[in-house]
Amino acid sequence: MKFKYLNIDLKKGYKNIANIYELNNHLMTFYLDIYWRKIMVKDIFDDISKKSFNDVINFIDICVGTGDLLFEFKNFIKNKNLNINFNFLALDFSFDMIKLAKQKYLLKDVFFILADVSKIPIKDKKIDIATISLGIRNLKTNEELFEKRFKEIHRVIKDGGVFWGLETSRPPNKFIRFFSDLFTAYIATNIAKIVSKNIEVYGYLADSIRAFYEPHEFKNFFLEKIKFKEVSYKLLTFGVVAIHKAIK
Ligand SMILES: C[S@@+](CC[C@H](N)C(=O)[O-])C[C@H]1O[C@@H](n2cnc3c(N)ncnc32)[C@H](O)[C@@H]1O
Repeated sequence: MKFKYLNIDLKKGYKNIANIYELNNHLMTFYLDIYWRKIMVKDIFDDISKKSFNDVINFIDICVGTGDLLFEFKNFIKNKNLNINFNFLALDFSFDMIKLAKQKYLLKDVFFILADVSKIPIKDKKIDIATISLGIRNLKTNEELFEKRFKEIHRVIKDGGVFWGLETSRPPNKFIRFFSDLFTAYIATNIAKIVSKNIEVYGYLADSIRAFYEPHEFKNFFLEKIKFKEVSYKLLTFGVVAIHKAIK
């Protein structure tokens, strides 16, 4: 398969689409992106409820973008009236995306870090829970950088801490996969082009989905290259997205 847009300048790309990013996401996924984040948030809280934390929970959302995952996370806490002590951190290399996240009232106590995942300005073993939603593919500029970035994430997580990742995937069923590829390549990218008028970024979207790992390959990547101890995943919506959980 030939990919034309995989090596675009992503930082510049997100600067250009920041204002329209959320709407584009909702339109391209028929608003399922909100549901997918909610599922991951619920899974994280189910997991938290099985553990005992003596201290404050250090939580970092990496590739935070405009803060959609953190927003769902904090909304869950608010709706369930939970009394858990969190220290919220968020990281992204796009000033323009972070600027929009900072405008969300629910995120007012989040500490934002402007940095590339290749060099996370946090000491070793400080994080209890790290998340990425829909930003994992972005980190695969090439194999080497992808590994470097996940080793950084692994470095800052405590022993026993957890990484949660929500990412688009390619459905295992060949028939569904055919239509999903067609949808991403033509329909989703055209919706996005019309809304954002940015061909490069949405060309990247289609290419990067098809160039990304299969969920089981990604699981092996975590175990073999990054040395997480336990890795599991589940597929949502016929496998167009996957949630990975990796324990250090
Ligand atoms: C597709 S958005 C995801 C935003 C949000 N997590 C969500 O659920 O919608 C990907 C984000 O990752 C950021 N990003 C991409 N590569 C990055 C890198 N190497 N270091 C830090 N942030 C990066 C982009 O700036 C963008 O805000």
